[in-house]
Amino acid sequence: IPSPRLVVGNWKMHGLREQSTRLARAVAEGAQALPDDVRLVLCPPFTQLASVHGIINAAGPAAPLCLGAQDCHTTSSGPHTGDISADMLSDLGVQYVILGHSERRQAHGETDALIRRKVEAAEAAGLIPVVCIGETMEERLEGRTTTVLATQVEGSLTDDFSGVLAYEPVWAIGSGSVPPIDELERTLSLLHGLLQSRLKMDDIHVPILYGGSVTPAQAPTIFSIGSLGGVLVGSASLEAKSFLRIAESAS
Ligand code: G3H
Repeated sequence: IPSPRLVVGNWKMHGLREQSTRLARAVAEGAQALPDDVRLVLCPPFTQLASVHGIINAAGPAAPLCLGAQDCHTTSSGPHTGDISADMLSDLGVQYVILGHSERRQAHGETDALIRRKVEAAEAAGLIPVVCIGETMEERLEGRTTTVLATQVEGSLTDDFSGVLAYEPVWAIGSGSVPPIDELERTLSLLHGLLQSRLKMDDIHVPILYGGSVTPAQAPTIFSIGSLGGVLVGSASLEAKSFLRIAESAS
């Protein structure tokens, strides 16, 4: 079992000040009771990063809490209205950044090549990229899952990638369904193999997360896969109790 296991909460475009503060405080309080081998990463929208950072800091260095963002630009500064760079995130105390989420691939036309440039920017700024990959329902039904994942691993990672890979079948996100556990197990070993052949390094340390409708009820089954590095949680991360219950089953 990879240690620590990561439980990443992607708040997406949710949370005004009061709600975000309340959520982060409740998670920080509950996190004190978590075992040492679990690490929580809170990824609020850009506007709430500074206040969530304050709450994480106040919880103290022993708390298993990190701050993450949901995207970054490919360059460190410049004439890019509305964009946020990896350096700006790092300057705010951010440690992780989600890149290539399927919602960005779909709504913003992000390609593997663009995502790879974002990964390079994140690495240069000292952030840990959490790169998302996953097949759509159409690709799955056409039997193209393996090819799609291979193309995404090939195109969106750097040669010496040492961040985190998140497998999120697009059809599972927000749907209430997760892949059957034996299928998920097979996909994880496929991904381990793809990483072995993609990365130009002898020693590969890339935790693989699962994301897509992770709930407290599903979490124990998902975490029963020994090689799983953690989970990427969307809606269930918006409620402190359910997020913490998921984290409890990670150990
Ligand atoms: O990044 C998180 C994923 O998109 C999963 O979202 O847990 O709401 O299905 P979900």
